[in-house]
Amino acid sequence: MNKLEVLHFPDKRLRKVAEPIKKVDQGVKDIIEQMFFTMYEEKGIGLAATQVNIHKRIIVIDVSEKKDEKIFLINPEILFLSEDNDEMEEGCLSVPGFYETVSRPKNIKVSSLNLDGDLFEFEANGLLSTCIQHEIDHLNGKLFVDHISKLKKSRIEKKITKLKKEGALASRASAPNYKSAT
Ligand code: NI
Repeated sequence: MNKLEVLHFPDKRLRKVAEPIKKVDQGVKDIIEQMFFTMYEEKGIGLAATQVNIHKRIIVIDVSEKKDEKIFLINPEILFLSEDNDEMEEGCLSVPGFYETVSRPKNIKVSSLNLDGDLFEFEANGLLSTCIQHEIDHLNGKLFVDHISKLKKSRIEKKITKLKKEGALASRASAPNYKSAT
């Protein structure tokens, strides 16, 4: 299986709003498999289709220690957001090597389609809640750097652009502090 290319901020394709899946067919299943493969290869804990230039509403996640708990969401919708927030340090495979604290609702309720095309609902909290919100943002063309100060965001943009020019972005992506990159 081939690893899909991950787009990097400030690539404009990361700003596209993903289209809903009309039918869960073999094509969708293939995309999910390729996305899991890419996410594990990149040492990430989550990946949205938008990040691999596929503008469909698909997300893959694995926040487990052993990397053996695959979660995928098709057409995910947030049904409930708690009023209390959690602050977590977030990273992103599309913003390699940069980590910033982001505040988001602590608990969420989400709906998604399964592989049979049936709707299911579940609740999430902690890292999984943060991760799902981060990935749904991607499907809506939004990045975690949109949640931090403009000054910090523009500093990151300048650094990434410079690293890319120097061809040094790839080594940053495989730096040891990858655990929360989504
Ligand atoms: Ni991300």
